[in-house]
Amino acid sequence: MDKIVVLDFGSQYSHLICRRIRDFSVYAELVPFDISVDELTKHNPKGIIFSGGPSSVYNSDAPIPSAEIFKMNLPILGICYGHQLIVNNYGGKVKRANKEYGSSLLSIDNNEDLLSGIGESVRAWMSHGDEAEEIPSGFEIIGHTESAKAAAIASKDRGVYGIQFHPEVVHTELGTEILKNFALKICNAKQDWNMETFIEKTVEKLSKIEGNILCGVSGGIDSTVAALLIHKAVGDRLKCVFVDNGLLRLNEESEVEDMFKNNFKVNFTPIYAAERFLEKLQGVTDPEKKRKIVGEEFISVFTEFAEKNGPFKWLAQGTLYPDVIESGVSKGPASVIKSHHNVGGLPDWLKLEVLEPLRNLYKDEVRKAAKILDVPNNLIIRHPFPGPGLAVRIIGEVTPKKLEIAKVSSKIVEDELIGADLYDKVWQAYAAVGDDKAVGVVGDERKYGNIVMVRIVDSIDAMTADWTRLPHGLLEKISNRITNEIEDVTWVTYAISSKPPATIEPQ
Ligand code: XMP
Repeated sequence: MDKIVVLDFGSQYSHLICRRIRDFSVYAELVPFDISVDELTKHNPKGIIFSGGPSSVYNSDAPIPSAEIFKMNLPILGICYGHQLIVNNYGGKVKRANKEYGSSLLSIDNNEDLLSGIGESVRAWMSHGDEAEEIPSGFEIIGHTESAKAAAIASKDRGVYGIQFHPEVVHTELGTEILKNFALKICNAKQDWNMETFIEKTVEKLSKIEGNILCGVSGGIDSTVAALLIHKAVGDRLKCVFVDNGLLRLNEESEVEDMFKNNFKVNFTPIYAAERFLEKLQGVTDPEKKRKIVGEEFISVFTEFAEKNGPFKWLAQGTLYPDVIESGVSKGPASVIKSHHNVGGLPDWLKLEVLEPLRNLYKDEVRKAAKILDVPNNLIIRHPFPGPGLAVRIIGEVTPKKLEIAKVSSKIVEDELIGADLYDKVWQAYAAVGDDKAVGVVGDERKYGNIVMVRIVDSIDAMTADWTRLPHGLLEKISNRITNEIEDVTWVTYAISSKPPATIEPQ
């Protein structure tokens, strides 16, 4: 697969550069800026991009890439701070300028390669404090703005380009075209990144693995796709474990079991541990304590299984690329397999090495892979569900009655959204229950019943969220169904706090 490697100099947009390039089917990977030439060579890149970053090339602690990278004879595109690095490296001058933040009009001076197809001018997104004052010899200016005379420069002979603006940000018009020109026309990268090839190559790599593999599956898309890929490669040497902790959505345990046993035919062991979890949760009301108990109990159940059914050499996980980057594990070339011990609180003596076949994928790429692997669509579009399950959607102690209310009312919320064709348009939707009660009238009788809180939110990445402006008629239907169908519920409320200051889950 052809690859563009992006050196990360710390810009908040670095990640987006990879994202945009992958969107036009060229594989791109983010690596730390201080990667050695040897490591970079192992990637066999078709071209290199220097990301932006908050530093100034003249700072004594400025992140500077290995000088050898400039001698690799590969096309380089510097963005913002990366642009200034190029100017500095080839003998030009960078100076402190007035901070420029926002959209500027970029006039195109030469539209031969990097800026071809862009027209005479475009809006370009600027976010910088320094700028190129003198461009190095052998470079020409190919684009300028009112305040930055060298907003885009090129040394075509060297294949080196620098742009002061951010093409990866949607506010830059035709930004993707500029990245495309670099990747396709200048680097000659092939558009061969697709999920079919990814699956084929990953299965080929995984099939070389020796020893048994243990995979905890939750029924969520990430662990399911990870398990299916590994299963394709090693068959029954993969053992999937599903822990029913009693805190899942209504009927979820049997749905997951059916899917793995009947649709996928993988080696699958359900562990019915609801009693253990619920017993440990008895009398506990503190949210953090509940989370801790669920986490610890999961590790005990999982460890017991591994001990009885092992030895296992590998622990498979559905870690995705954003997790890898966020946790800083990207320091080093991201590969299919990464070994380290004692992950996620599992005991050291199990000596499990970690297998993360999805560690280079974004969520939407996992969804595409899932489709190819015949994962049912209802699982592909299913909303995220917290690891501690209903323990965080039940306020106060987790009791059988509150569990039942949370399960059935959440199912009503989901069903009504599906019926209104809104389920896949919202980020998450559920109903929570606590200990508060309110008076209602059922038939002719006065009744003191539970209050159910419906929470439906829109979000892009769960970092922020807003409550969904659901049609009133639909809210009414949800409320009526919950009070009619669940005996103990008298009132339904709708949570209209955004995140922040609230969070998506109530606990
Ligand atoms: P909050 O409640 O923090 O949730 O706004 C943000 C997103 O994370 C999910 N969530 C969790 N997921 N383990 C998980 O795997 C957890 O402990 C957990 N807590 C919250 C939540 O559902 C939302 O999508």
